[in-house]
Amino acid sequence: GYRAEDDYDYLFKVVLIGDSGVGKSNLLSRFTRNEFSLESKSTIGVEFATKSLTVDSKIVVSVLAMTKGLNISRPVDKPCSTVEFYRKKKVYRAITSAYYRGAVGALLVYDVTRHSTFENVERWLKELRDHTDPNIVVMLVGNKSDLRHLVAVSTEDGKSFAEKESLYYMETSALESTNVDNAFAEVLTQIY
Ligand code: GTP
Ligand code: MG
Repeated sequence: GYRAEDDYDYLFKVVLIGDSGVGKSNLLSRFTRNEFSLESKSTIGVEFATKSLTVDSKIVVSVLAMTKGLNISRPVDKPCSTVEFYRKKKVYRAITSAYYRGAVGALLVYDVTRHSTFENVERWLKELRDHTDPNIVVMLVGNKSDLRHLVAVSTEDGKSFAEKESLYYMETSALESTNVDNAFAEVLTQIY
């Protein structure tokens, strides 16, 4: 039957985290609007979109993507005062905790063509664990699987890291639209 747009049974907050350029914004736009952009600009601050799904009940998924928009390390080439440095740090902490608050799912994204983004997964996981409920459903996502000739992180390495940390695992391509819906569906199934 008919249901109003803002009438839903569940609202799930899912956050996308990972290094700059791994494809968080494009995973978000692919999932919520079926859009992809080759020239997407680096996100400053937080990006937000929602998608409604009807399974047995009506679920609204709100997806957030954030980047390290505020530089918390003191730049060597562009020094700023101690006061300014601590002010920035405080703002960053406030944004970070608001970002994670109430999240029930997370996609921790790395870029399969850039090994450094995989090495940083551990740090992202720590930040996630520090700010969220221990029951949060986390999926490790190796994005850009379409760039087969440039792969720098093997599926085996991704999988075994995920197993070690008790995370779900999937390789995706926001460009080719491979596994994007599956990744979100799997996370939502585990929450629901
Ligand atoms: P920040 O906002 O800086 O944190 O980056 P981000 O993680 O949001 O990355 P974004 O979605 O902006 O993507 C960065 C670049 O990678 C863009 O040029 C995208 O077009 C490209 N990209 C994203 N996903 C894919 C993918 O699945 N395959 C390929 N080939 N390129 C992708
Ligand atoms: Mg972005």
